Amino acid sequence: MTPPAHPDDRQATSFGAVADDYDRVRPGYPAEVVRWALGARPLQTVDLGAGTGALTRVLLAEGHSVVAVDPDEQMLARLRARSPGVTALVGTGEALPLPDASADAVLVAQAWHWMDPGAASAELVRVVRPGGAAVLLWTTRDPDDPLTAAVRQAVVRHAPDLAARAQADGSPRPARVPDARFRPDGTTRADTTAVLSVADLLTLVGTWSYVALSPARDAVLAEVAQAARAAVGADGTVRLSQHVEVHRFRRS
Ligand SMILES: C[S@@+](CC[C@H](N)C(=O)[O-])C[C@H]1O[C@@H](n2cnc3c(N)ncnc32)[C@H](O)[C@@H]1O
Repeated sequence: MTPPAHPDDRQATSFGAVADDYDRVRPGYPAEVVRWALGARPLQTVDLGAGTGALTRVLLAEGHSVVAVDPDEQMLARLRARSPGVTALVGTGEALPLPDASADAVLVAQAWHWMDPGAASAELVRVVRPGGAAVLLWTTRDPDDPLTAAVRQAVVRHAPDLAARAQADGSPRPARVPDARFRPDGTTRADTTAVLSVADLLTLVGTWSYVALSPARDAVLAEVAQAARAAVGADGTVRLSQHVEVHRFRRS
């Protein structure tokens, strides 16, 4: 196998190998944030960096047309299985496989930080119609949540080199489309709670790319397991409180 040119390239493609687990345990997106971002009228949307389609499914349920784009064929295979009939194209934010002015809105959930912001912004300018929107979403864990704090501690103890990523909740969030033709048009936040078995919590932590690729992965997961067993409720589940933050930009 050819080694990746940059560690981030390896991280960006770390998801496909765990696509089924990823799909089962990663949190979804509340419909209210899609309504806030897009309004009620059915639109032509693109789910960019769609992965296994967590956001695609909400967009479809809200009545929008969706083209899903992702570089990872394994993630798209899962998306197609869960949303048969949806158009799902292999492609990247830097080279969108879409015609000029073909979308009312492009939404990027938990994926903008994987793209080159300059090249991806130029593609958004090309593909989003004037008056349309680019929408960046991230799920973040509540820092005050005790289980979240225990997970962070486990990462910091066993993989100090990852402390900054753990502190930043895994994903850097560059909530900006660096092109003057997109002006900031509001942000919102919704609270969600992930209810997981201990096994699924471990699977979830194992899908975080910076944990998945760490040599300390097993030690981190062993400590997370210990913390989870201490936090498990009578129904056998643990709860992680999270926020979905949403940033909308309007195309002039
Ligand atoms: C953390 S996952 C998010 C998937 C999905 N949007 C979700 O919220 O569950 C990040 C996704 O970004 C994709 N990705 C990585 N590099 C990309 C790029 N340059 N352009 C578009 N997508 C990219 C990965 O293949 C992966 O599916």
